Formats: sequence, structure tokens, C-alpha cells
Amino acid sequence: MKGIVFNIFQSFVEKNMGEDAWDEVLEEAQIEQDFFVAPETYEDKDFLTLVTHTIEKFKLVPSEAIRLFGNFSFPLLISKVPQFKEEFKSAKDFLKGLDSIIHVEVRKLLPGAKTPRFYHKERDDGSLELEYESDRNLPDFVIGLIEGLGKHYKEEIKVQLMGNNNNKYQFLVEFA
Ligand code: HEM
Repeated sequence: MKGIVFNIFQSFVEKNMGEDAWDEVLEEAQIEQDFFVAPETYEDKDFLTLVTHTIEKFKLVPSEAIRLFGNFSFPLLISKVPQFKEEFKSAKDFLKGLDSIIHVEVRKLLPGAKTPRFYHKERDDGSLELEYESDRNLPDFVIGLIEGLGKHYKEEIKVQLMGNNNNKYQFLVEFA
């Protein structure tokens, strides 16, 4: 996982659990790395260890904590590439371009980034069926990011997990 995601997670922990919380988590989780540079790539398992340790240490509900981390991450991610906001007029447009434009640009800006796959299908009623595929299996992060996207566009969005099989998760995203 790219350093930027570790950096955002560090901000999330410090903001919600206190200034010293991140240093404690880093020390207690006993991973080799003790700082993360945004464009560098670090072990996925280190990210997972830090997230799991934070959840255990602060007795958080895993799905809730990861969803809130997604919410927190969206404005920080988009602030790195502000032209996305101009390019996409609505949250739905944004989600339709997530796989074919946004994460493609992200991989150009951050060589070696391993972004997940997203497939979409628009229903007649305007809602979007979205499938997320990744061996990192972070469906709650997806939900949180989409909620963050809705806030960013000041739109009311409803996102539900409909099912999953083999690293693939199906969501239904409804727009007000
Ligand atoms: C609703 C919008 C978005 C969704 C649902 C989404 C989803 C995800 C998910 C679930 C991951 C975790 C990796 C995985 O599951 O394999 C991820 C990684 C990532 N995304 Fe997105 N993303 C969104 C928007 C963005 C935006 C706006 C940016 C940047 C401007 C961005 C940049 C990244 C980066 C840098 C990674 C890390 C890749 C790596 O570490 O190799 N994403 N995204």
C-alpha cells in the first residue's frame, strides 16, 4: 500500500485518538517501518497490522472504524488531485469514472500503486450497481469513501453492500 494511505491513517488516528496515539500504535504493533513517505510502497500486511492494532487498542468496532477512515480519507485524497472535482459534475459521474479515469491517473502519479478494480452498471431508476474487486478486501473502506464523496458534492447518497464472493463485493449506490 502506498505511503499516502499510511499518512492519512496516521492523521485519522491522531485526530480521533489523540496526538500520542500514533506513536503508541507504531511501537506496540512492532512493524519494522516507523515512517512512511507518500509515494513509496510499503507492505500491505503492515497496513493491516496497524489498522488491526488500532482497532484492538481503542476497542473500536472494525467495520465502523474502517468506514469512518474512508469518510476521513476522501477529502484528503481529492485534495491531491483537485482537477477531478472540475472534471466530474456529480458523485455519480465520479463513480462512473473511478476505474477508467481516476485510479488510472492515480497509477500515473504514483507508479506502482495497486488500485482496486471497479465495474459499474446504471439501473433504469438512476441508481448504480458497483462491483469492487481487490485482494485487500476493504468493502467498509469503499462505503466510507463513497459517503465522503457524497459529502464532497453535497449530495445525499445511500450505499449498501448487496453481496460478495471471492474478493468481489457488490454495492448498490442510490442518489437523491
Ligand atoms: C469514491 C471514490 C473512491 C473509491 C471508492 C476508492 C476506492 C479505493 C480502495 C477501496 C482502495 C484500497 C485498495 C484496495 O482495496 O485494493 C483505494 C486505494 C487507493 N486510492 Fe482510491 N478510491 C476512491 C477515490 C480515490 C481518489 C479521489 C484518489 C486520489 C485522488 C484515490 C487514490 C487512491 C490511492 C493512492 C490508493 C492506494 C493504492 C496503493 O496503495 O497501491 N482514490 N481506493
